[in-house]
Amino acid sequence: MANPLFTKKPMSVLMQESDGSGHGLKRTLGKFNLITLGIGAIIGAGIFVLTGQAAAIYAGPAVSISFVVAGFACAFAGLCYAEFASMIPIAGSAYTYAYATMGRLVAWIIGWALILEYLFSGSTVAVGWSGYVVNFLDSINLHIPETLSSAPLGLDESNNLVFTGSIINLPAVLIIFLVTILLYRGIKESASFNNVVVIVKLTVIILFILLGWQYINQDNWHPFIPENTGNFGQFGWSGVMRAASVIFFAYVGFDAVSTAAQEAKNPQRDMPWGILGSLVICTIIYIIVSLVMTGIANYTELNTSAPIAVAIDKTDLKWFSPLIKIGAIAGLSSVILVMLMGQTRIFYSMSNDGLFFKRFGEIHPKYQTPYFATLVTGGIALVTSGLLPIGILGELVSFGTLLAFIIVCLGILILRYKQPELKRPFKTPLFPATPILGIVSCLGVMFSLNTLILTIAMIWIIIGLVVYYFYGRIHAKY
Ligand code: ALA
Repeated sequence: MANPLFTKKPMSVLMQESDGSGHGLKRTLGKFNLITLGIGAIIGAGIFVLTGQAAAIYAGPAVSISFVVAGFACAFAGLCYAEFASMIPIAGSAYTYAYATMGRLVAWIIGWALILEYLFSGSTVAVGWSGYVVNFLDSINLHIPETLSSAPLGLDESNNLVFTGSIINLPAVLIIFLVTILLYRGIKESASFNNVVVIVKLTVIILFILLGWQYINQDNWHPFIPENTGNFGQFGWSGVMRAASVIFFAYVGFDAVSTAAQEAKNPQRDMPWGILGSLVICTIIYIIVSLVMTGIANYTELNTSAPIAVAIDKTDLKWFSPLIKIGAIAGLSSVILVMLMGQTRIFYSMSNDGLFFKRFGEIHPKYQTPYFATLVTGGIALVTSGLLPIGILGELVSFGTLLAFIIVCLGILILRYKQPELKRPFKTPLFPATPILGIVSCLGVMFSLNTLILTIAMIWIIIGLVVYYFYGRIHAKY
């Protein structure tokens, strides 16, 4: 008898669900909208906040090299993602792909890892949002005390968890609360609204590049890779890798394109464009922004909650500073929404498959939303964003995402050999080098994460396996 751990969800069921849950969604998204959808989910706290901190603490101006390293890992994984998305062109995430092709246990592990990715991204970006809001309010003389706008928990020099003396990050809690209400009552994802937010974000960033370029002081780029301090990860090449694991967060989100498959005009042809197009555009932008940022301000000054604004304040473009903050605040809000909504959908799919508690699949009679999944998602995001610093949250997200990427690459590798007959409108080039390099580079970035994060993540996976053993294994429908 086949081992139930590897039972696959039948493709016919997936297709049926995909039609049934379509709610008459129109197929309106073409290549362009899929790319903007990706950019909408990708550009967020990673570039607006973490880049500055990664430069200041780990890599200096060489944070731009970290973007190249993390970009490669994402490109390999993105190519594998694109192959899956064209092969199984239904709304889904890595979780759905894994269930259809690699079976229940792998699907469970990916689903569990995606919780780290989506749920904690919501919290991470909320902390970033809080930083820009506080900074903006400061600039108009409204001061929120630090004890009410930063995390009570933090890491000391040796990466031990310490109390910072702060009470709670109130603005972060507030934005999660508002987004949760929106999600609870149901919000129609609107491509045109997303396009507007993307235009605002891109305008702010492109203006930063164009205007900031003239203020670069090349002395700030020397040394480009500051000498290692003697500790692994503090500057030097190990610092570049360490920073890559931190700013990896900035790339998280391109996989969100795959959740729009049902609204794509021609998913098989256009999904790869959406995934890879948004990734390429963001990689180029990130590398240039990090060069401009560390060129205008010295990297040592960038360990702040609003580094792009700090860099602009070094120039005489003072008028631009509030615009950057408003652009960042708007842009970050939409990322929080996309991420938390993604999480409720993952809970919903896992619950419908019987792998996760039934209540997470319940739909509100009036609002037609997975209200219980939304409340739990919002509740956890609220607590974590109120208590934890952006560094810890972001690295947990990086871990979850890297794990999902590794499994996606592995999946492509296995499937090409086991099911060569499957129709693949988009094929990952340079097979098998691409998925293998994807796995190796993601592992490299993963093991550059802080050891405390790796420990927490391992505990998370173990808890996941226990939940699977006592619940998913018994209730799984397939
Ligand atoms: N990549 C997204 C961000 O940087 C999650 O906020």
